[in-house]
Amino acid sequence: MTGPTTAQPSPARAAGLSTRFTELVGIEYPIVQTGMGWVSGPSLTSATSNAGGLGILASATMTFVELETAIAKTKTLTDKPFGVNMRADATDAPERIDLLIREGVKVASFALAPKPELIAKLKDNGIVVIPSIGAAKHAVKVASWGADAVIVQGGEGGGHTGPVATTLLLPSVLDALSAKGIDMPVVAAGGFFDGRGLAAALAYGAQGVAMGTRFLLTSDSAVPDSVKQEYLGRGLGDTVVSVKVDGMPHRVLRTPLVEALESGSPVRALVAAARNANEFKQMTGMRWTTMLKDGRTMKKSGERSWQQVIMAGNTPMLLKAGLVEGDTRAGVLASGQVVGMIEDLPSCDELIQSIMAQAHERLKTLGSLG
Ligand SMILES: Cc1cc2nc3c(=O)[nH]c(=O)nc-3n(C[C@H](O)[C@H](O)[C@H](O)COP(=O)(O)O)c2cc1C
Repeated sequence: MTGPTTAQPSPARAAGLSTRFTELVGIEYPIVQTGMGWVSGPSLTSATSNAGGLGILASATMTFVELETAIAKTKTLTDKPFGVNMRADATDAPERIDLLIREGVKVASFALAPKPELIAKLKDNGIVVIPSIGAAKHAVKVASWGADAVIVQGGEGGGHTGPVATTLLLPSVLDALSAKGIDMPVVAAGGFFDGRGLAAALAYGAQGVAMGTRFLLTSDSAVPDSVKQEYLGRGLGDTVVSVKVDGMPHRVLRTPLVEALESGSPVRALVAAARNANEFKQMTGMRWTTMLKDGRTMKKSGERSWQQVIMAGNTPMLLKAGLVEGDTRAGVLASGQVVGMIEDLPSCDELIQSIMAQAHERLKTLGSLG
């Protein structure tokens, strides 16, 4: 026999927190889910945006048509602002930018800053431009090119990363901007996972936080459950920055494959990289001429060797094997050090609510100290 049902009051939601960044992009909470190749698709991105943060689709591992489909799908799942992360040095970057404009995407995020003409075009069409940077001088440069805000990623962050920790990189960027009289919102990334981190970032003078690994480990991310479990089992010392994956410093989980790459011969690594680049080319329908053209642009912009350029084609396939196919032995799993602080798989809404409740509580306590 079932008793009468009593309507349960829905739990109170955390109050919004308005900063110059939330006002710029039109969101409730100063929390960004960053673009992560093979990870941030329509479900994760829309779940973040619906929860009051800013979700960002990762498009560097998508073909143009896949990106078109992903934007359309995301728009069916949320009417809140969301962004698209892309490679500014891809040969079809101008077409992708036209697509963002046509579709009215709110934010364009870039791992490498786009040229001033592309920034101007995006801004003229009402799109907010947010490059990710890893050095103070780059923040000043992209500000002079017209960027609206920057994501500053410290060395503890997952994926491609720099050598300086967030605790030092963030104030160095804020100081460099203020020395030049530049008033641009800065979003802190690398190592964030809770409300204490958000309160600390705001105390530094940032206008919000961006998180990759923490959002990968939510029930809304499409990464196979077995792979999420592999991440959850890791501690603070279980990531490594390897240049053997694609020739650039890349923070990944320490796995037997990564250790083999680290100790393997450069020739063997190069042959494997060329094979993976070929597979990526077939999968995305990219022509060799396009890949070579992309490679030449990459070489010019980043002063990379041809060996590094060939190895860059390696990353997408190795990440795909791990993050999409769930083969943790054959694939590479990009991850921030913060993986060692994460023990659960909340939904994006639960995650953002708990971060905001804790941030409000910390800010209140700090406010009472004075
Ligand atoms: C699995 C994974 C994939 C990533 N892919 C990209 C990408 O495609 N483009 C990009 O700009 N950054 C990428 N990143 C970096 C993140 O956007 C973000 O800056 C970083 O994860 C922040 O550090 P955290 O992991 O400590 O939160 C990736 C990170 C991870 C963990």
